[in-house]
Amino acid sequence: MNGQTPDHLGIIMDGNGRWAKSRGLARTQGHLEGLKAAKRIVKAASDRGIAYLTLYTFSTENWKRAAEEVGFIMGLVRQYLRGEFDFYRENAIRIRHAGDREGLPADIRAELEKALEDTRDFTGMQVILALNYGGRDEIVRAVNRAGPGPFTEALLRSHLDNPDLPDPDLIIRTAGEFRTSNFLLWEGAYAEYYISEKFWPDFNGEDLDAALGAYGGRDRRYGGLP
Ligand code: FPP
Repeated sequence: MNGQTPDHLGIIMDGNGRWAKSRGLARTQGHLEGLKAAKRIVKAASDRGIAYLTLYTFSTENWKRAAEEVGFIMGLVRQYLRGEFDFYRENAIRIRHAGDREGLPADIRAELEKALEDTRDFTGMQVILALNYGGRDEIVRAVNRAGPGPFTEALLRSHLDNPDLPDPDLIIRTAGEFRTSNFLLWEGAYAEYYISEKFWPDFNGEDLDAALGAYGGRDRRYGGLP
């Protein structure tokens, strides 16, 4: 048992579609409730003293979904970036990004860059939006930036999207799936995983506390012996 609160928490927010389906609603309704859950958990994580929170918001593979669903999620992202500035200021939250920015629609990219700029001096929790993010894609982009080899772990790490961030200590995945789905492949090498059965729109502060409690009870050995 380590008895700690994670410094860096990652969340794979899964189950929006199933949440909606189980209520006979459109998938988009699930994403709308998912955004509310994200706001709730950002506040809860900040109140619990977590320093970095990475939210898997849209993957490099999510473009395969129906255009209507993709457009709806992008609309929510725009709304979140634009409409929450007062909340970021009150809670000193700094917004950051992980993923391929060049592959984002121009309006979303502009909104994202504005939020990054407007919050860059805030010193509270950092919320990293993994948007157009894929772990393999991040590694490939890092290799291309790092130039001709030979490569070392330290060299490659220094070319990841956010080299100053500590690796995630804990990754929560909702909706009962046991998969990494291309999330923080490099950084999550020694992350502890916690799977919640709840669909993401239902995930709340109590569920977060259960995950943090489970994390505190884990032994972290990083391949060594106790
Ligand atoms: C996974 O559920 C969720 C997504 C692909 C989208 C996540 C987006 C949000 C929560 C809204 C935007 C959030 C922020 C922070 C701006 P799924 O659709 O894969 O669910 P399913 O597996 O049940 O179909």
